Amino acid sequence: MTKRHILVTTALPYANGAPHLGHLVETIQSDIWVRFQRMQGHDCHFISGSDAHGTPIMIQAEKMGMTPTALIESIQAQQAKDFADFYIEFDHYGSTHSEANRELTAAIYQKQQAAGNINKRVIKQFYDPIKKMFLPDRYIQGECPRCHAKDQYGDNCEVCGATYSPMELLNPYSSLSGAEPIEKESEHYFFNLQAFTDFLKTWTRTGHLQAQIINKLDEWFKEGLREWDISRDAPYFGFLIPGTTDKYFYVWLDAPVGYMSIFKNEAFWQADSETELYHFIGKDIVYFHALFWPALLHGAGFRTPTAIFAHGFLTIDGQKMSKSRGTLIKARTYLNHLPAEYLRYYFAAKLNDRIEDLDIQFDDFVKRINADLVGKFINIASRAAPFITKLFAGKLSSQLAEPALYAIFEAAGDDIAAHWEGRRYSQAIREIMSLADRANQYIDEQKPWVLAKTAETVPSVQAICTVSLNLFRLLMIYLTPVLPQTAKAVAHFLNSAPLTWQDKATPLLDHVINEYQPLMQRIDLKQIEAMKMAEQTEKPAAPEQSSFITIEDFAKVDLRIAKILEAEQVPEADKLLRLIVDIGEEKTRQIFAGIKAAYDPATLIGRQVVVVANLAPRKMRFGVSEGMVLAAGPGGADIWVITPDAGAAAGMKVK
Ligand code: MSP
Ligand code: ZN
Repeated sequence: MTKRHILVTTALPYANGAPHLGHLVETIQSDIWVRFQRMQGHDCHFISGSDAHGTPIMIQAEKMGMTPTALIESIQAQQAKDFADFYIEFDHYGSTHSEANRELTAAIYQKQQAAGNINKRVIKQFYDPIKKMFLPDRYIQGECPRCHAKDQYGDNCEVCGATYSPMELLNPYSSLSGAEPIEKESEHYFFNLQAFTDFLKTWTRTGHLQAQIINKLDEWFKEGLREWDISRDAPYFGFLIPGTTDKYFYVWLDAPVGYMSIFKNEAFWQADSETELYHFIGKDIVYFHALFWPALLHGAGFRTPTAIFAHGFLTIDGQKMSKSRGTLIKARTYLNHLPAEYLRYYFAAKLNDRIEDLDIQFDDFVKRINADLVGKFINIASRAAPFITKLFAGKLSSQLAEPALYAIFEAAGDDIAAHWEGRRYSQAIREIMSLADRANQYIDEQKPWVLAKTAETVPSVQAICTVSLNLFRLLMIYLTPVLPQTAKAVAHFLNSAPLTWQDKATPLLDHVINEYQPLMQRIDLKQIEAMKMAEQTEKPAAPEQSSFITIEDFAKVDLRIAKILEAEQVPEADKLLRLIVDIGEEKTRQIFAGIKAAYDPATLIGRQVVVVANLAPRKMRFGVSEGMVLAAGPGGADIWVITPDAGAAAGMKVK
């Protein structure tokens, strides 16, 4: 067998949140494949890392009051730890926010530029005048143009299911500031994907992709490939485009380049490399991996992926994972309640080489773990081992009593290997479990517990249990990619070196094993309930609550003297007056104040009041309120604005 040199990647998870069970579909699927390759003696590298750039990460950091760098570093560490605790055996878990990635991204971009594949042109986009930034669609909310449901996001209505462009939303507002977005022009950089149409048509049809993807791509080719906007305006967390001071690479440009920079091995990326490169990804990011990425690589003179392995999406008890609906389960929450290998086994039992969604049904999960993994597989060892320990001082017989049965199990290894290689994991698991049934059936028929009672038949107990444990050992070899931790425990129990695939050819005979310790426990639905409960009751870490505020808290409030320039009724509002106030430095603000019952607007004009100048703007039905006027009193008509003494002037800070 020739030794293959392989690089496997998983998509780089965004560094704005902890891994959840959906991410684990991918990391577990790829880890099983990698472990299988390594067991075959191949040289298989396995990398991933955090995708560190983009607007959501910048916004998230801002919300948490930290720098983006601090946020991405802490999330990267958490992702690495969570994956490691699921026994995902990455050689390296890196990040796209590195000097190496910046250089490589720039180099790839410059090669494309030199080849004439980059164009510049001015486009119009939504802009948030208060946050002073262009708004990605997901930050634009408004009223559905079809059913008029309020507060719908970017491009589709959760209430009636309509899809539209964010420009069509009624009364659109920025979910970041509440401000009404304006359209603003800016120069963007585009990658000319159309130039790669012929290359991509050939590449996508020559064995690198799954059939379902090829069909989807054909649709895209029919519509015609479009140029790809690869720039974003400041403020942005990412890499500056060389030669500019305020244009950044769109995160999706430097993200796949992260595969190269995280795996620093030039030989793998050369156009003529004989190594193999596989990307495991979810179905949502096929466009990037099957079109942009090969085009970027090819255009820059690098090799292209050997294959892209896309999987479907995970649902939980039939529902889409959603934080707000309480159906999202984080990797860490799972680990706090259940063994990592159970999820590995369950996913393996469900995964195949197609792009199908998969569902965790927890009833089914509990059943599969208890009935198959513990009840069939582990059961073989727990039935046979105690006899060997008690009656034969741990020693296996020196002959294999059932060579034909063993041969069946051994031969099945080739089929199972082909299933692991071809990512037909559910078929591999099905074969393994049907072999486990046979092994149990053998023990049932032989009844060692009966034979152990009579002196003349005791020797046959050793033979039967030696066969049983050798069958168990074969199944353990086949399951090692899925259950690496149990494989270690079993190697210890069998008093042998770590199991390799080749070991299947040589049964363990005339050999002393260790005393059997329980390898796995059954689970109970209660553990699932507890896990779900923990996820739902978990609150974001809130600072210690106290009824006092500190002087630092108070210092955050920017109180200013303001002069009322305009005051008028808001007919649609019961309690509000609309004020325009001068807050100094020639700046005015619109404030909606709940003092309608107390003041005739005309009497307010020209008066000075105290306002909170740094209150987050709030979008109201009639406009954005950009501050708060301080007033005292029980409410209703009994409320008085706080008025400074003579001598105060608009814009003065209140100390
Ligand atoms: N950062 C990009 C990938 C860049 S690769 C150069 C990204 N990140 S992600 O965190 O949103 O997703 C990471 C991977 O997890 C993707 O392959 C995605 O498809 C997968 N999954 C995220 N949610 C998932 C499910 N619910 N189910 C299965 N896989 C899911 O995309
Ligand atoms: Zn609607």
